[in-house]
Amino acid sequence: SPAATTLSVFFHVIMENDSLEGGNVPDSQLEDQIAVMNDAYADAGITWVLADTQRITNADWFNNVGPDGSEQTEMKGQLRTGGAADLNVYTVGFTSGSSAGLLGYSTFPSDYEGNPENDGVVILFSSVPGGAAAPFNLGQTLTHESGHWVGLYHTFEGGCSGSGDMVDDTPAESDPAFGCPTGRDTCSSAGVDPIHNFMDYTDDACMNEFTAGQVARLQDQMATYRGVSF
Ligand code: ARG
Ligand code: ZN
Ligand code: CA
Repeated sequence: SPAATTLSVFFHVIMENDSLEGGNVPDSQLEDQIAVMNDAYADAGITWVLADTQRITNADWFNNVGPDGSEQTEMKGQLRTGGAADLNVYTVGFTSGSSAGLLGYSTFPSDYEGNPENDGVVILFSSVPGGAAAPFNLGQTLTHESGHWVGLYHTFEGGCSGSGDMVDDTPAESDPAFGCPTGRDTCSSAGVDPIHNFMDYTDDACMNEFTAGQVARLQDQMATYRGVSF
């Protein structure tokens, strides 16, 4: 749809130390990340603008900021910027504890009102374009996590039955797809598995679409919970 909106992105680069391996993501990679997001969301009517970047040295947050831990509450409580329509992105290392091995996680629009300070996306720093996390280093982790932040569920939500991802043009699939499989079709209902969808679990190079139904859902979610008009 031609209707469009511009949203601000605030990057919080959490570092263990000043080195690249320590999480010191260069500005050029953050700019490339925004460009990847703008490609992905062009048909959804969202333009993302890099509003601000802050770099913070905190080894505890860098290494062990899992989705249920006190580190997350502390980090976001100190750093989150802006209102319901502002995307806060924390880049971290996910090396230990319950965070070990994660690519990212996000809150949903409907979570905002009850806990605004917790709102935002946490991603592995090396998943940004040019990072070391191949095959997840083309920037689609932030596309995927932002997909949750704008109100989308996984394409495999609910497996082969039920209301699934609440979108009717993403064929059901039984469970996440990995890599970039050919001809995957795990449910007897119509359509092959949507392995190229940003909300599946395939490799970054395999992902290239949000459907019209997802665009309609995310615009509705953003209007309802984040006060964004398109
Ligand atoms: N597993 C993560 C999640 O459920 C992110 C998956 C991102 N996939 C990718 N190809 N970058 O939110
Ligand atoms: Zn996800
Ligand atoms: Ca099918």
